Amino acid sequence: MATGDTAGEAHVEVRDLTMAYGSFVLMRDLNFTVRRGDVFIIMGGSGCGKSTLLRHMIGLKEPARGEVLYGGESFTAAPPGRREQMVRNFGVMYQSGALWTSMTLAENVALPLEQYTDLSKREVRDIVAYKLALVGLSGFEDFYPADISGGMNKRAGLARAMALDPEILFFDEPSAGLDPLSAKRLDDLILHLAESLGSTVVVVTHELASIFAIGTNSVFLDVESRTMAASGDPGQLRDRSPREDVRLFLNRGVADGKSFPNGAPAATNGGDRGDRDRPAGPPDR
Ligand SMILES: Nc1ncnc2c1ncn2[C@@H]1O[C@H](COP(=O)(O)OP(=O)(O)OP(=O)(O)O)[C@@H](O)[C@H]1O
Ligand SMILES: [Mg+2]
Repeated sequence: MATGDTAGEAHVEVRDLTMAYGSFVLMRDLNFTVRRGDVFIIMGGSGCGKSTLLRHMIGLKEPARGEVLYGGESFTAAPPGRREQMVRNFGVMYQSGALWTSMTLAENVALPLEQYTDLSKREVRDIVAYKLALVGLSGFEDFYPADISGGMNKRAGLARAMALDPEILFFDEPSAGLDPLSAKRLDDLILHLAESLGSTVVVVTHELASIFAIGTNSVFLDVESRTMAASGDPGQLRDRSPREDVRLFLNRGVADGKSFPNGAPAATNGGDRGDRDRPAGPPDR
């Protein structure tokens, strides 16, 4: 089902994956390949299983059937020690953003470094400062998540996901809850950082604007048939998918300049004005 294998080598392969909660089969027979350097979009309607698929890819949930491979090596079948090594190459930003609210931004970003490395306090502090600078949050080290805007929280989550210089970054709805301008800035930042770090990126989103702005490859999960309906370049799927439902999903909303599949707003447009109050010099403008 994967389209042309011309770009980078296979980074992640999802093979014959069936996902279930107990006896309830959510999706079956998922087969797709994420290539190195891809910005790979997992898309589909609300509740179809996008977050669950991401959880399978990072090992938070086990397949009912099938497997996930990294660089040709089975992650699903790997023994626990090896699996832990493989997980260290992952950077993850969950759907909620989920910083620890009782910790400062610096403490949040330092956490994976303290957990997984033997770096000295000073080295950790330097890396934390560097990662926060990359996402435009220099000077906010000692702020708590509650003291900054939603957009800034997302960027701090991004800094934390990148703390260990992961080979692959996973994002679950990174721009959900942001106003369109902050969402666009976050997309740009993700792209900029992924390019400069040479990371592969896997993004769950139903934001059409994001899908076409950043996606190089994708899989479309169909809630009706409980399996994938398409995979490949999202722009090509929008224009040329043989599946009408896929074309419809990808065309709806962009025609009138908005991004809300299934007739419902995909994200709140109120509240977060994101980036108004941060210091100068970020890379994401
Ligand atoms: N822990 C769980 N136990 C049982 N069912 C679950 C569990 N987590 C999710 N589900 C069900 O699995 C389905 C898919 O959930 P999932 O969160 O993966 O969808 P999603 O595509 O990410 O949705 P959204 O677009 O709302 O984020 C939903 O019907 C949900 O109710
Ligand atoms: Mg989800």
